[in-house]
Amino acid sequence: MHTRNAKLPDAQHIHTLIKNYSHDGTLLPRSLPELYENVRDFVVVEDEGKIIGCGALHMYGPHLTEVRSIAVSPAYKGKGAGRILIDALLAQAEEHDVKCVCLFTRIPDFFALFGFRAATREDMPDKIYKDCVNCPRLHACDEVAMVRGELPKMAVLGASNIQLPIIDVKMIEKQMYRKTARG
Ligand SMILES: CC(C)(COP(=O)(O)OP(=O)(O)OC[C@H]1O[C@@H](n2cnc3c(N)ncnc32)[C@H](O)[C@@H]1OP(=O)(O)O)[C@@H](O)C(=O)NCCC(=O)NCCS
Repeated sequence: MHTRNAKLPDAQHIHTLIKNYSHDGTLLPRSLPELYENVRDFVVVEDEGKIIGCGALHMYGPHLTEVRSIAVSPAYKGKGAGRILIDALLAQAEEHDVKCVCLFTRIPDFFALFGFRAATREDMPDKIYKDCVNCPRLHACDEVAMVRGELPKMAVLGASNIQLPIIDVKMIEKQMYRKTARG
């Protein structure tokens, strides 16, 4: 079992792997055209010539990169593929001298094994502008934000295309929480 950088013909396999886990919201769905466009972000895990795992590193800039689309084929879970995949992505982040690696997950215990710690999504405005604002779960996110390294002190994406400033996300979440608590 080994990792390697993905090549264009791998996009179809990556698409199938991600599809295993996107129907229930575990992973964000990725379309095939989007995967062709971003295939160079991906690392795959190969076992006897078969692609059994994939994961990507999305670069925002020297301040931040995001681990995303982590998937190991259901038949190969628990055999160490996830570990070598994350190690390979972290090695790439180090090669690029990125200060902070972030991710959003429902399995924080898995990523804690690799030195990730809990954070808030407001610590990573770039992620909010890139994905969260387009997500139907913007105000009901059940994923844990995690980081490894220095929290970003800057952002490169702006609020120009969104109607809802970040500060309101926090305020609305608080209001929703109060409503729920009151019943
Ligand atoms: C999470 C996932 C990538 C793990 O891959 P895997 O190949 O089964 O993991 P490994 O066999 O390499 O396990 C490495 C370690 O992680 C632990 N681990 C595996 N899955 C875990 C989980 N869900 N929660 C906590 N720890 C987990 C293992 O016990 C092992 O620990 P050890 O080395 O101390 O024995 C895989 O289960 C998967 O594809 N899940 C569905 C998609 C998903 O949830 N992706 C992440 C979204 S952010």
